[in-house]
Amino acid sequence: MAFPQFPKNFLFGTATAAYQIEGGWNEDGKGLSTWDVFTHKPGKVMNGDNGDTACDTYHDFQTDIEIMSELELQAYRFSIAWSRVLPQGKGQVNQKGLDYYNRLVDALLSKNIVPFITMFHWDMPQALFEQYGGFASRETSSYFADYAEVIVKSLGDRVKHWITLNEPWEHAFFGHFVGEHAPGVTNPWTYFKVAHHELLGHGLAVERVRSIAPDAQVGITLSQFPVYPYDDTPQHHEAACFADLFMNRFFLDGLYKGQYPEALFKRMRLFRPKIEADDMKIISRPFDFLGVNYYTRQYARHVWYIPFLRTWVDRDPPPGISHPELGPQGYPEGMRELNKRYREEYGNPIVYITENGTFDQLSVEDGHVKDTLRQRYLELYLTELSKAIKEGSDVRGYFIWTLMDNFEWNSGFSKRFGLVHVDHKTQRRIVKDSGYWVRELIRRQQV
Ligand code: FCB
Repeated sequence: MAFPQFPKNFLFGTATAAYQIEGGWNEDGKGLSTWDVFTHKPGKVMNGDNGDTACDTYHDFQTDIEIMSELELQAYRFSIAWSRVLPQGKGQVNQKGLDYYNRLVDALLSKNIVPFITMFHWDMPQALFEQYGGFASRETSSYFADYAEVIVKSLGDRVKHWITLNEPWEHAFFGHFVGEHAPGVTNPWTYFKVAHHELLGHGLAVERVRSIAPDAQVGITLSQFPVYPYDDTPQHHEAACFADLFMNRFFLDGLYKGQYPEALFKRMRLFRPKIEADDMKIISRPFDFLGVNYYTRQYARHVWYIPFLRTWVDRDPPPGISHPELGPQGYPEGMRELNKRYREEYGNPIVYITENGTFDQLSVEDGHVKDTLRQRYLELYLTELSKAIKEGSDVRGYFIWTLMDNFEWNSGFSKRFGLVHVDHKTQRRIVKDSGYWVRELIRRQQV
């Protein structure tokens, strides 16, 4: 196996999210989040799984930090559960919740692991959802900035990398349009409101963080997809352009150009959210880095039966297209394609790949998990990423999704994405072969 090379000071880490790992869903004063409520409703999650216990890191993060240290991982991206810190989403602070994150940060730093904190990884305080529909209303954008202030005041002396939002597209689309994620709303009319208010919340939070911690690096994490037409017909080409506007460019243009793509609202004009005078200025205020979550590309098809959108996207390619080793959804080249776009069209920002990885269902055999496909996946994607850097992209780090097998949203525990195998009954951890491969990759970097 080859070990792609990265520049000096490039960071290798793993990423997680609060609801997917913490458990302790109703302990020490934590308020409910929309994910607590959603997963407790029958039929929402595969096999009836929920995150009540998840990987139980609320009670033991030390074991995982030991593992990170053993694997010589240099950074750790995790998220804060908003309702653990502010049970109602605003107002009264829950000191015990803040204490937990303080202990976690101190433990990471004691092992020289750089913390990257995501402020919002989809677990909206239920109280804000009930009062305002979550990000469906602009009030939530300002409460988000208040929340950012609370956590940065408490942790900002030690934490220098902050990510406002994780994947605003997924939260708006799966949470508020198709309802497969919490809060389970199926209302296309709120989709763009949510997306706009998420970005507004990001902008307000950037401003707030700057005022409290001028030395902090603040970014946002977007899911990103190269979009391809399903075949070479003009309709499918047009669908691919539209899907790109809807999933990628709405966010990139809002953030970097202070303007949503006009072409998108030509078709979606009835859905245009209310944009107040300074909103776009706030949203496009300079920030320090772009976080990119990249897994695979999308194939777009023109369909007549979906009103307005007229577009269907699928991660599965048309028959006959498949990566020879990684299967139909493997597309390492996307790393280069996306970064080229950021260089050429968005001013070559500092980029962190904040998520990349793959799932399987492998179990432990004779004490080992032989996940060779994951190793190969990481190797191929990293090789493409290293090419992007050689071509001029300013990529500063790479976070594998994920440290350990965890609660994969509406797929429950059925998909295993970790470098570390978790037995969800006993919480026993076993480092997979890929985990040791990553350690070797880090060791082989020329410093
Ligand atoms: C991303 C999410 C992350 C995880 C991976 C597999 O969309 O940000 O929480 O579920 O997918």
